[in-house]
Amino acid sequence: MGPTILAIETSCDETAAGVVTGPRGVRSNVVATQFDVHAKYGGVVPELASRAHIENIDGVIQEALAAAGADRGRIDAIAVTCRPGLTGCLLIGITAAKSLALAWDKPLIGVNHIHAHATSAAIDLPADAPEPWPAIALVVSGGHTSLLMVRDPLDITTLGLTIDDAAGEAFDKVASILDLGCPGGPIVARIAEKGDPRKCDFPRTMLARDSLDFSFSGIKTAVLYHVHGPGKTSGGLSRLTAQDVADVCASFQACVVDVLVAKTMLAVEQTGVRTVVVGGGVAANRCLRDTLQTACEARGVRLILTPMRYCTDNGAMIAAQGCHLFRAGRLETLALEARATGEL
Ligand code: KG4
Ligand code: ZN
Repeated sequence: MGPTILAIETSCDETAAGVVTGPRGVRSNVVATQFDVHAKYGGVVPELASRAHIENIDGVIQEALAAAGADRGRIDAIAVTCRPGLTGCLLIGITAAKSLALAWDKPLIGVNHIHAHATSAAIDLPADAPEPWPAIALVVSGGHTSLLMVRDPLDITTLGLTIDDAAGEAFDKVASILDLGCPGGPIVARIAEKGDPRKCDFPRTMLARDSLDFSFSGIKTAVLYHVHGPGKTSGGLSRLTAQDVADVCASFQACVVDVLVAKTMLAVEQTGVRTVVVGGGVAANRCLRDTLQTACEARGVRLILTPMRYCTDNGAMIAAQGCHLFRAGRLETLALEARATGEL
């Protein structure tokens, strides 16, 4: 079984809470999204996100406890995302977690959001399945694109990361260039199904041959100039047919997926690790999931994809990672602070 952890997640634009008993025992997972709050601005507005977290957090925590059939007496510790993220947003979750820890006299645990995405692939494994570690973790989300070495959930190091835009951010920006609405990733992915991935020649930026870092700002600019004409940033969208738009989406998606898969396989080669895990919002992308499956099968590498419902931000993954930290005695005091960056 294992300890029962209540976790709170407010690092960006999802107010979330979850309860687990043991790192593979999800008992509840409640997420309040803020799409409608930010939609008309074309991106997350930090101050509005913080305010929405304040409005939602009590209800989300209560719902997560009720859905898990857990009350104060059943909870062994309170975990909370403390980094990385929007500082004002993180602070709301951290304040709520500290208040509960103090009022209920429970230990407090600070969780690194990227580490939680990195270990989320194990969340639904059967209780008796062997641990998937060591593994190469590809974490692809709206804020982060990283390759990590997960020796075990308590020993995670960064192998590479994006030097500019995150993969999900590129999806969101391409959706904005094509005026497709938000959230961009799932919309671009859906429209890409009707397009030809070989139609537009966008750059696959690999950086140095042995580099595990990523760069996605070039492809975003290439899409912008493809739509409007070289050096232009407006005026071209109305000339595109629905099929043209689908071709742009499919070609863009194929580029991003090719780079993500190539770098992940390079990490496998460089480290000799034979298991790959994938998490984060973009891990919900069907084309990425299928292409990784094919690449891993061809090399005899084991692939564990995070279940779809735990790809985008959620409280269950924070609770699961918090459970590992709790078992190891890695507790925080009420002095726990929010940090915008991910490195420890
Ligand atoms: O992990 P997440 O919820 O938040 C961050 O930690 O950033 O990831 C959100 C990102 C957004 O950029 C969204 O567009 C992208 O994940 N996303 C997708 C898909 N579903 C969500 N990108 C591509 N294809 C999808 N199916
Ligand atoms: Zn995330």
